[in-house]
Amino acid sequence: MNELSQQLSAKFVSFEGIDGCGKSTLVSELAGWLREKTIPFIKTREPGGTRLGEKVREVLLDPSFETMNDQAEVLLYSASRAQLVHEVVQPALRQGMWVLADRYIDATLAYQGYGRGLDLAPLRRIQDWATGGLCPDFTILLDCEIEVASSRMQARAATGDRIEQESGSFHERVRGGYLELARAAPERFIVVNANGPLQEVVTNFRVAFAEALTGHC
Ligand code: TMP
Repeated sequence: MNELSQQLSAKFVSFEGIDGCGKSTLVSELAGWLREKTIPFIKTREPGGTRLGEKVREVLLDPSFETMNDQAEVLLYSASRAQLVHEVVQPALRQGMWVLADRYIDATLAYQGYGRGLDLAPLRRIQDWATGGLCPDFTILLDCEIEVASSRMQARAATGDRIEQESGSFHERVRGGYLELARAAPERFIVVNANGPLQEVVTNFRVAFAEALTGHC
C-alpha cells in the first residue's frame, strides 16, 4: 500500500460486523499503517465518540433497559451518529484527515433493520437526515460464523451488553443483513473472511484493502 498512500485523498472508512468479529483489530491495523505513513487520521466509535454520544451509549448498552422500544432504539443510535458526524467526522474530513469509523449507518440497517425486523426504507431516510447523506468511501465488513464470534467474546470474559445478550438467531439475522447490504453496494463494501485466527484476518484485510485502494486512485 506504500506509494499508493501518496496519491490518496482523505478517506472515510467504516468497519462493520457482528459482535466479536474482530473489528477493533482491523481498525488498529489500518491506524498503524496510516501512522507509519504519517497520514493524519482519527478513529471514531458508535454509539459514542462525542460527549453526548458516550452518554447515549451508556443508555443503549445498559442491559437494564430491556423494554427499550425499537423505534426509540433507532433514534438513540441515530442521535449519537448525528452528533458524531457534525462535531467530529465532517470537520476531520474537511481538514484532510482519514476517518476510521468503528460502525456507522450500516450497523443500524443490519441490527435494527434485519435484526429487529424494522422496515429499511424509513431507517435509510432517518440516516440520510441525521448524517446529511454522508457515506463512507469504503466499508470493511468482517464476516464470520456466529460460533466464532461468540467464542471470541467469551475469551474476553465480558458479561455482554444489552445487544450482545440478544439471541443467536438475532445475530444470524444481523450477519445475513450485513451480507445483503454488501451485495447491494459492491463498489463500497470490502468483505473480509473473519473466521480464521486474527492474524489471518489481518492478512486477508491487507490484500483486499490494497486492491480496493488501487481501484480507487
Ligand atoms: P460495539 O460493541 O461495536 O461498540 O457496538 C455496540 C453495540 O451496538 C453492538 O452490539 C452493535 C450495536 N449497534 C446497533 O445495534 N445499531 C447501531 O446503529 C450501532 C452503531 C451499534
